[in-house]
Amino acid sequence: MDIAPGAPSMPTGNLRLVPVHDASPDREQQWWRSSVIYQIYPRSFRDLRGDGIGDLPGITAEIPTLAELDIDAIWLSPFYVSPQKDAGYDVADYCDVDPLFGTLEDFDNLVATAKNHGIRVIVDLVPNHCSDQHALFQAALTAPENSPARDMFIFRDGTGENGENPPNNWQSHFGGPAWTRTTNPDGTPGQWYLHLFDSSQPDFNWDNPAVHDEFERILRFWLDRGVGGFRVDVAHALIKKSGLPDWGGRADGASTEGFPGDQAPMFGQAGIHDIYRSWRKILDDYDGDRVLCAEATIDPLDRLTDWVRNDEMHQTFNFAYLHHPWNPHELRRIITTSLEAFDKVGAPTTWVLSNHDVVRHVSRFGQAEGHTRPGDGLGPEDFQPDHELGLRRARAATVLMLALPGGVYLYQGEELGLPDHTMIPHEFRQDPTFHRTDGVRVGRDGSRVPLPWVADAPSYGFSSTGKSWLPQPGLWGTHSRDIQQRNPDSTLSLYRKALKLRRELNLGHGSLAWWPEKDSEGAVAFVNGNVLAVMNMGTEPVELPEFEILCQSSPGAMAHTRLRPNRTVWMRIP
Ligand code: GLC
Repeated sequence: MDIAPGAPSMPTGNLRLVPVHDASPDREQQWWRSSVIYQIYPRSFRDLRGDGIGDLPGITAEIPTLAELDIDAIWLSPFYVSPQKDAGYDVADYCDVDPLFGTLEDFDNLVATAKNHGIRVIVDLVPNHCSDQHALFQAALTAPENSPARDMFIFRDGTGENGENPPNNWQSHFGGPAWTRTTNPDGTPGQWYLHLFDSSQPDFNWDNPAVHDEFERILRFWLDRGVGGFRVDVAHALIKKSGLPDWGGRADGASTEGFPGDQAPMFGQAGIHDIYRSWRKILDDYDGDRVLCAEATIDPLDRLTDWVRNDEMHQTFNFAYLHHPWNPHELRRIITTSLEAFDKVGAPTTWVLSNHDVVRHVSRFGQAEGHTRPGDGLGPEDFQPDHELGLRRARAATVLMLALPGGVYLYQGEELGLPDHTMIPHEFRQDPTFHRTDGVRVGRDGSRVPLPWVADAPSYGFSSTGKSWLPQPGLWGTHSRDIQQRNPDSTLSLYRKALKLRRELNLGHGSLAWWPEKDSEGAVAFVNGNVLAVMNMGTEPVELPEFEILCQSSPGAMAHTRLRPNRTVWMRIP
């Protein structure tokens, strides 16, 4: 590769570099351009009230522990009133806390405690659908056809002689049809309603201004309580193409042969952007630089960046990065295209390796080639990941990620190096995906298992009574936080060190220039400021310059001047 013009003005130790992304100018050092946001899945974080389900007081109690990770914010998955058919992503009341998790007062305490530790609290907003137990949907069910109450949702007559077939062929993201037929008060079959997810999650009708008003009220309710912003669930789905035409592509709208994702009638419709522009204005009226982050599974990347134009949201998850395979060429390509695409709209790129919807990266990177399973979970019948290899690679991938400029998302438990629980007996499964596909997809429970805090306590210290809503694997003992806190070589110690350095070296606001010399050896190598970050994804050691070592992903990653496979190192360029 040739050196592109305008090489960055930084010490390069005579490395030949290819610049891709410049450091943020001083005026653009807003916190969310380089933020580290830690995702909390409340039901699995810490249970202080003893029912086997994590709660808000459990999170508040551990804020000082989280502060040790040097994070900017926590994002809480839903804790609102909900029948919990989709672990709280089925909301029955957006403006109250489910008694499972505590009270609004507990929430206020959490925000205040977090603030004292310099941590913002971001909440999850679920605007595409609610729970079928929501008062608005219950009212819609009993209201006549074509009434204002029904118009809050997407009700249609069925097709076929007696309306016995769904209005179109859309499939639910969780499997099965995306329509469910209602029963009229007199017991006769009625209209159908749309649900892109479970049948207990009816989609709102965003063509109706009353839906806009309702969500603006909800936004202000939480902004007034001091939240730092919102992670917006399925932020690409709110508007559906008029006429609801048939669509033969994947239920998640991702591109497949013959069905480009940008033509999916339920995703990425143009009108959606006006919604986010109006929300942005609401947030901008508040102090404190509050943020919107989109969960939008839109491809390709340069279309996804429409969600973060300067009058829309601040961040959007980078799922292309989350799904990168263990392949240096692919990883470099995704990093380059991400930075280029987000730079074009002046938004920060974000990076993420795990969340509550995917197999944790320790287990993904431990899967043998040819034994990867598409979908969202691994079960006892699957070929089991190699835990040791997966952990080594996951540590390497995280250390590489933390050297990248932009925002980072971490998922609770990854700082402990947790794998997925791939052996959960099926009778414990709660994810609707498992039940709606008759077990063909095992679902996401494996990444949602309650955290281990204390190695030799019942439920590994998760619950004050030793209960746990999902079984925890025996491996949790060696991964418990108390053990890792005492071990300087633990994954927890590594996260603490790398996150601290990331902030001290201002890497999040930094630059990226590739160092292509090591490409042919299976390495991914770049320079950010005066840090050289190299991950060895190949099978042979990679020779590196004799620079000072700042951080290495595993003890002994460097054998003299050679970086061993499946490891990452940061070096200071003299
Ligand atoms: C998002 C959430 C996922 C949930 C779905 C439906 O993708 O991350 O957990 O099941 O939306 O709300």
